[in-house]
Amino acid sequence: MTVLLTRRIPSAALSKLQAAHDVEIYDGPSPISEDELKRRIVGKQALICLLTEKISAEVIATSDLRIIANIAVGYENIDVAAARARGIVVTNTPDVLTEAVAEFTWALILAAVRRLTEGERLLRRGAWQGWTLDFMLGSGLQGKQLGIVGTGRIGRAVAAKAPAFGMRVAFAKRGQPSSPQSEKVAVPLSMDELLVSSDVISLHVPGGQATRHMIDKKSLARMKRSAILVNTSRGSVVDEEALAWALRERLIAAAALDVYEREPAVHPPLLEMENVILAPHLGSATHETRRAMASLAVENVLAVLSGQPPKTPVS
Ligand code: DGY
Repeated sequence: MTVLLTRRIPSAALSKLQAAHDVEIYDGPSPISEDELKRRIVGKQALICLLTEKISAEVIATSDLRIIANIAVGYENIDVAAARARGIVVTNTPDVLTEAVAEFTWALILAAVRRLTEGERLLRRGAWQGWTLDFMLGSGLQGKQLGIVGTGRIGRAVAAKAPAFGMRVAFAKRGQPSSPQSEKVAVPLSMDELLVSSDVISLHVPGGQATRHMIDKKSLARMKRSAILVNTSRGSVVDEEALAWALRERLIAAAALDVYEREPAVHPPLLEMENVILAPHLGSATHETRRAMASLAVENVLAVLSGQPPKTPVS
């Protein structure tokens, strides 16, 4: 059978796939276009793709696929309903990236509260005048509240590291029953209670219509003026225009973003602001994690093409 890869994947995973099936790799300089994808997908039984590719109902309709394996935990780039309607299995890569994203979230939290990137920029442009008592003061984390929005694997892994910094954890109930596991480490609050009482708010919900602009002008205005907003989930969760307004008006102290509404574009006013840290979607970007993500996608493809159930189907 033939598998289409929209990008080259780490060699161990690729070799395993090539040992079992024919493999075609798209090697273009930028993400594959929808038209190119439609052309290449014909006659392929499996597709391994990334979150940067939109796998629309139209693409799906032109295919004979048995599986679409996304190398990402998020899968809002795929029209899952259209795939399901044609009996195509869709898989993602949960678990293997949880710790990497949680670690990166903490990197952003620490960098934001201690103004790390702002300080580095100042130093690099030769503007540092030396140590003084009141120079570039940030805030400590000890005794503060970390508000987690989204208590899936990543939200829980971020929460689990909070005691190391002396933080207490709250999580947003968002209407759904809370899991006993998350209640062990955190206090459940309504979304509004969480917004008004947290010192750091970290977002870990999936992307898609249900969470689009969950953080908007209204919710930003409810946060503490000293609050820090961190987003390592999906850009669509935060209204970037509203965020730029809140940062400009100093309604919140700072933000740290790894994801954007229109990646790789960033809402231009954010680029000019000192009180926002902007990372280029690096949450899962470790050698170990990316190898594990690619291997899991390949395992899913191998399973489905040999008539077995996949390891990590999307629900
Ligand atoms: C994912 O897997 O959804 C992440 O955003 C990749 O870092």
